[in-house]
Amino acid sequence: MTVTEHDLQDFALDVDDEGVALVTIDIAGESVNALSSRLFGELEIILDRLESDAAVRAVVITSAKDSGFVVGADVSWLESFGPDDDIGDAARMGHAAFRRVENLHVKHGKPVVVAIHGPALGGGLELALAGSSRIATENSQLGQPEIKLGIIPGAGGTQRLPRLIGLAAALDLMLTGRSVRARSAHKMGLVDEIVPRESLLAVARRRALESIDGAATARRDRRTLKSWLDPRHLQQLALEENPVGRKVLFGKAEEQMLAETRGNYPAAPALLRVVRVGAEEGIEAGYAAEIEEFTRLVGSPEAAALMSVFLNQQATKRDPGVAADVAPAEVTTVGVLGGGLMGGGIAAVNTEPAGVRTRIKEIDDAGVRRGLDHVQKHLTGRVKRRRMRRTEAAEAMHLVTGTTDWSGFGDVDLVIEAVFEDLALKREMVAAVEGVARDDTIFASNTSSLPITDIAAEAARPENVIGMHYFSPVEKMPLLEIVTTERTSARAIATAVAFGKRQGKTVIVVNDGPGFYTTRVLGPYSVEAAHLLGEGARIEDVDGAMEKWGFPVGPLQLADEVGLDVQAKIARIMTDAFGERLRPPAAMKALTDAGRHGRKNGKGYYRYEEGVRRGPDESVYADAGLGPRRDVPIEEIQERLSLAFVNEAVRILEDGVLRSARDGDVGAVFGLGFPPFRGGPFHWIDQVGAPAIVSRLRALEAVHGDRFAPAGLLVSTAESGGRFTD
Ligand code: NAI
Repeated sequence: MTVTEHDLQDFALDVDDEGVALVTIDIAGESVNALSSRLFGELEIILDRLESDAAVRAVVITSAKDSGFVVGADVSWLESFGPDDDIGDAARMGHAAFRRVENLHVKHGKPVVVAIHGPALGGGLELALAGSSRIATENSQLGQPEIKLGIIPGAGGTQRLPRLIGLAAALDLMLTGRSVRARSAHKMGLVDEIVPRESLLAVARRRALESIDGAATARRDRRTLKSWLDPRHLQQLALEENPVGRKVLFGKAEEQMLAETRGNYPAAPALLRVVRVGAEEGIEAGYAAEIEEFTRLVGSPEAAALMSVFLNQQATKRDPGVAADVAPAEVTTVGVLGGGLMGGGIAAVNTEPAGVRTRIKEIDDAGVRRGLDHVQKHLTGRVKRRRMRRTEAAEAMHLVTGTTDWSGFGDVDLVIEAVFEDLALKREMVAAVEGVARDDTIFASNTSSLPITDIAAEAARPENVIGMHYFSPVEKMPLLEIVTTERTSARAIATAVAFGKRQGKTVIVVNDGPGFYTTRVLGPYSVEAAHLLGEGARIEDVDGAMEKWGFPVGPLQLADEVGLDVQAKIARIMTDAFGERLRPPAAMKALTDAGRHGRKNGKGYYRYEEGVRRGPDESVYADAGLGPRRDVPIEEIQERLSLAFVNEAVRILEDGVLRSARDGDVGAVFGLGFPPFRGGPFHWIDQVGAPAIVSRLRALEAVHGDRFAPAGLLVSTAESGGRFTD
């Protein structure tokens, strides 16, 4: 007997002869399954049937999508709730639906086996947790990433997850938002069995049937007994099952959470509170607390910012960077000039994830060796972290070769240049590549400060020249800033964008100009940090203030990483282009004159011992000819630096270097560590209000002069009551 519910858009229901109901989630018109109010509405119809139909004896829930099980709630649906909307209704609807799923096995005696492949994240995992058991394929990926969106699981996850895998493991998953693969999930008891994709449904069906007559109970008990006898587990149990142990555990979690979030992410303490209520006052109190906190957090400014970051990143993934009818050229072989810090990293992401043949050109064998070693280290790391098999890493390594002449460059599709930051040398590279490569080979420069127009000035085929600006370390930093000149062809842009995405990058496209977007926007920010030092602020106070504001490192530590000499060179270019507001105070020159180049020579704003950063270097003040230190209020430091940053971002948009505010937000968050919970400079201006920003800038201008004059576009936006973002 087969019964199908025809009128549902997102589900299919099929009951077989033995009474196993197969519930297949397949959201109409989407490539992934994401939870929304429509889906919950349809789930209720399915549940009516599963509960009332005596022919249904067991249930299997699965997904029809190749992309995986369920990726979580639809973020644009969540984002659509304003602070005044009652998201509580949506949360209660989710709770009620998943409780009914749970009751199918708890009350109606109908086992619910959840068959998972690919991602089961957020609400997807919460649905799976409501089942009686979970079967997963090797490639499954399970997690509760809500914290990354500034919220907490809102459909029972904060209560069901700790009960299934223990408090410590559940807190770890929910506080970090990380996901685990099937094997780790199996070890922690999150999934019961791992099976090949081909047999997923067959095994799920069999387990569902076995569970009706209790056959599975014996299997599960054996597993549970064994793992609970593990001494580590017993210790954990002792810790979690008594009030004193729990206090220690929550105390530790809270300490770590505060250290990591600096109080900027309200979802983290809310999560701890909700889990704690559940552990101490019972599951019903836990559910109520979860709904309350979830509701509050969805409407919070932090969640709005984090969701905007997420949606902006998704939008850049879909953006080809040019009109839709321009096709990118096929890229199978890439030349990389320079095997240093950046060239080595670029070659690494060329092999994995991009998977293209790569030829590194260096000045000598040692340079080639350095580049190849860099790639090898990257691949070995991937194997260690189980992201690749050893054989795959060996194959990837075969993709890279090195040379000290131009052999092998006759047939490269794309050349990415990462030689020294020197205009003449870069022009020489363009000419050489034009001499040996094909007419349609694209030449990309990874310069961080030289205008691409200058690099292309003597090119025979300037339409092929473009900027591909990566960030260090290339393997880890998500952003790629693509820089186009007036003469760069649409084909070159489309190719660079498509290739950057293959390297796993989040890509923005900007127009050429000194410092493009990311280097230029840091200009006034680092200059302001230097002014603060000049006025008596301490190194640690300046950096500490901006870390507290949400940057991963402060501006002076950043200067040490970039190199004070490199920064001084960039400052000269910026001052030439944009005038006095970009000129660092004279004292800063004294620091580079005194040989302070930052981390690379162990002498910067901080002290270094064998490459390890220690405390601030007090001798900086004497070297810079600066007087005694004083307390500068943290709010003043934060205001001056943050406003210098966002004001310049608006100027860059105004000058047409940035194509959109969205790109400005994406570039700052993913390339420069702008606090994600503020959404990026433009989102933050909109959140604070352009008029308020203008009036603070005017107040600073009155004290410190022209460098704080508000950007024209900022003033006009404030006056018209407009916004930069949607
Ligand atoms: P690096 O000094 O580590 O590497 C440069 C490499 O180029 C050296 O290994 C050198 O031997 C090689 N080289 C020099 N002349 C060459 C030639 N004629 N042919 C082949 N190879 C040659 O420098 P790094 O940090 O990798 O920087 C490279 C480029 O990337 C520069 O333009 C820099 O401004 C830019 N960049 C650097 C970033 C950073 O954080 N270090 C970030 C973004 C861009």
